Amino acid sequence: MNTISFHERVMLVGDDLMGQLLHLARKAAGSEATVLVCGESGTGKELIARYIHGMGNRKDNPFLSINCAAIPEGLMEAELFGFEKGAFTGAWVQRIGKFERAMGGTLLLDEVTEMPLALQAKLLRVIQEGEIDRLGGKETIRINTRLIATSNKEPLKLIQSGHFREDLFYRLNVLRIDCPPLRGRKEAIQTLASFFLGTHCEKYSKNTVKLTRSAEELLAAHSWPGNIRELGNVIERAVLLTERDEIHGDEIAHLLVSPKGFEEVIQGERSLAEIEKVHIERTLQGTQGNKTEAAKKLGISVRTLRNKLRQYQDVA
Ligand SMILES: Nc1ncnc2c1ncn2[C@@H]1O[C@H](COP(=O)(O)OP(=O)(O)OP(=O)(O)O)[C@@H](O)[C@H]1O
Ligand SMILES: [Mg+2]
Repeated sequence: MNTISFHERVMLVGDDLMGQLLHLARKAAGSEATVLVCGESGTGKELIARYIHGMGNRKDNPFLSINCAAIPEGLMEAELFGFEKGAFTGAWVQRIGKFERAMGGTLLLDEVTEMPLALQAKLLRVIQEGEIDRLGGKETIRINTRLIATSNKEPLKLIQSGHFREDLFYRLNVLRIDCPPLRGRKEAIQTLASFFLGTHCEKYSKNTVKLTRSAEELLAAHSWPGNIRELGNVIERAVLLTERDEIHGDEIAHLLVSPKGFEEVIQGERSLAEIEKVHIERTLQGTQGNKTEAAKKLGISVRTLRNKLRQYQDVA
């Protein structure tokens, strides 16, 4: 199994696509460039950011992050830039912000596209000038902090809709890394599943259990809206719950979050093939991965069902 360890973390290279992504990340690590890491939820954006930091010259200096989606605007500014004693009501003591605390290291601007527009303008200034002002501060402080930003939405779309500044985008997007969704990547699903199986068996001091074919097929066919995080969670729960030395399809089936509701899927412009795929996935879950039974319910032969499942894996 091809794993990489850094800063007490282990990352698995699940397939060629991931290999290419890490190649790009190593290039980024060797530079000082600002990096924008994009991808759906749970695809490993933060892990990649930590990897870039961990492989570069700044690795012995701090890696800090700020979640731009979770903190209210006023607080975020104070968190980023810090403040002097008396800068505002309640500022009893001076506080150093994350830009300064990450000096010499890396600051991860997590979900940067969620940052309020006013703060985006301030961030742009910091990047352009390489200096910050603490709130209520009199002097400007030069900073030497590398920035990595993530977004789980497509930034170009948010620029179009006026939610994200184009000039900031170009400053952050010196290098862009896209973490691909997990669905349809059969090899990645399989290798990640056995990786998580190993780590969780160890964590819970269980003998190494195996996945049966039916379990593997269900994992391969699932759409993984929560991507690698969801796969890790499903395997962890399966390891915890199983009382056998094999994990069977039925044990996986009821751990999977059901795919989007049918009504949700048929809204908008969906192709017939997309709707068919969702219906097949749901039926398979209903039969706990039993293909014969699912095929019967769907009114098709098992062979047709198998072909369709194979197609989804090839195409997605
Ligand atoms: N290649 C990998 N090998 C092993 N574990 C991984 C890998 N990629 C991601 N993970 C694990 O999956 C989980 C999600 O990763 P991470 O937090 O980096 O995703 P994210 O894209 O930042 O998610 P979110 O958008 O929800 O913030 C973490 O527990 C992480 O350790
Ligand atoms: Mg994240």
